[in-house]
Amino acid sequence: MKPSVLVTRAIFPDVIEHLARHFDVDDNQQDAVLDADALKARLAGKAGVLTNAADRVDAGLIAALPGLRAVCNMAVGYNNLDIPALTAAGIVATNTPDVLTETTADFGWALLMATARRVTESEHYLRDGRWQRWSYDMLVGMDVYGSTLGILGMGRIGQALARRAAGFGMTVLYHNRSRLPESTEQALNARYVSKDELLQQSDHVVLVLPYGPQSHHVIGAAELNQMKPTATLINLARGGIVDDAALAQALKTRRIFAAGLDVFEGEPDVHPGLLTVPNVVLTPHIASASEKTRRAMAMLAADNLIAALDAGPDAGHPQSVINPAVMGHRR
Ligand code: DGY
Repeated sequence: MKPSVLVTRAIFPDVIEHLARHFDVDDNQQDAVLDADALKARLAGKAGVLTNAADRVDAGLIAALPGLRAVCNMAVGYNNLDIPALTAAGIVATNTPDVLTETTADFGWALLMATARRVTESEHYLRDGRWQRWSYDMLVGMDVYGSTLGILGMGRIGQALARRAAGFGMTVLYHNRSRLPESTEQALNARYVSKDELLQQSDHVVLVLPYGPQSHHVIGAAELNQMKPTATLINLARGGIVDDAALAQALKTRRIFAAGLDVFEGEPDVHPGLLTVPNVVLTPHIASASEKTRRAMAMLAADNLIAALDAGPDAGHPQSVINPAVMGHRR
């Protein structure tokens, strides 16, 4: 008998077909909302689950599912998974790094350009019929070329942003939990600085750090006050890293020039203060959303599930295990 797995959200039909060669698949191609109770009910008796970043797998859910052996997240971020609880229960957890790095960095660049050069605001201005004639100060923005980029969180995506910055003649500052090897810093032409220095000196601050208790509200009122009044803030990482209420206030009072946000505290809800200020570009968590990359993410999550559950002779090893400590005492 094939093991049973749940795919919590609609995904590419051929990925479901791929999984169905190895598993008895309970899919959700109608994309019905699965709240915590529905998720628990659907997971009863399942050996594995393919989750997305909005599915919360916490200690309570894990305790209720003694047969669960693998949780494979279709996202690089995994703040939705309680990793210590999964590890303690002997459940393999995987994510989808690498396949989305360049696509996400491309989008970070799009958000940076749109924010600094007021692209969304300009389009609204034109569509609203307010463009009557040229004027020297109409919708003037901030330069990206030749400016200073501050990258908070210098993992794969941060480094991909730094590589793009070279083409824009930018000075790159970064801050990270651990400093990069000197050879990598040299290759990226990036200088390690304190968080304070990064906030004070950067023209554009981009957030690409993982979310967790240590990074909750890493950017709040005090940090926004440290930034240049001409600076922009881009959040590509996760809601909760920025105190959205403090940011809305800083944008309203023009304490900083503008922000570009792809992620929000409590998304898909957005702080109402962000919806009423013009100097923010808002997108619905789409940084990795290219056809090719979303397909690669889905296929990697599926292959991880097949490997984590040893489903078939060609299963191999899961490629991106978040909790390798579990491998010796798997359920
Ligand atoms: C990720 O992969 O973490 C993206 O934010 C999509 O959720």
